[in-house]
Amino acid sequence: MLIREMTIEDYDEVYAMWLTTSKRALSKADNREQMERYLNHNKGMSQVAVIDGKIVGTVLAGHDGRRGFIHHMAVMPEYRRRRIGHSLAQKAIEMIKSQGIDKTHIFCYQNNETGQSFWRDFGFEKREDVFVYSYDNNKL
Ligand SMILES: CC(C)(COP(=O)(O)OP(=O)(O)OC[C@H]1O[C@@H](n2cnc3c(N)ncnc32)[C@H](O)[C@@H]1OP(=O)(O)O)[C@@H](O)C(=O)NCCC(=O)NCCS
Repeated sequence: MLIREMTIEDYDEVYAMWLTTSKRALSKADNREQMERYLNHNKGMSQVAVIDGKIVGTVLAGHDGRRGFIHHMAVMPEYRRRRIGHSLAQKAIEMIKSQGIDKTHIFCYQNNETGQSFWRDFGFEKREDVFVYSYDNNKL
């Protein structure tokens, strides 16, 4: 298994994978144009896991200059429970840390038991003291 930087050339394969692994989390922010902007904004930080030339896992990693954020942590169903997710998350956090950022946040749906178990196993601490509030900027 190889873990390497995700580039925009991976987009079609990665998006097809997300339709299987992460459909609920997809939005306009995942179209090609916005993904290219994201990858340029967070140069070299997002990763894919490759086995026999096929992308089997992804992690988007970035930071806003203050805190790190991970999105679309995903592994193809037939490759799960082999620590591929763990390796991807570790690489993502190493990349965020290398930028001088001390803390990484993830968002996880409340009923995503697998996701919660995964992040807990990795060592993430569940916050009981914060809610996520979102605003649609197009309302302005
Ligand atoms: C979450 C996900 C990325 C984990 O990928 P993975 O490669 O299977 O994870 P790992 O093999 O590195 O698992 C590490 C540990 O996480 C926990 N874990 C992972 N999957 C689990 C599951 N289905 N049930 C319970 N615990 C699980 C376990 O503690 C596991 O260690 P173990 O296998 O020794 O018991 C994968 O299940 C996935 O793509 N899910 C769909 C997308 C998703 O929900 N992503 C998270 C968004 S918040």
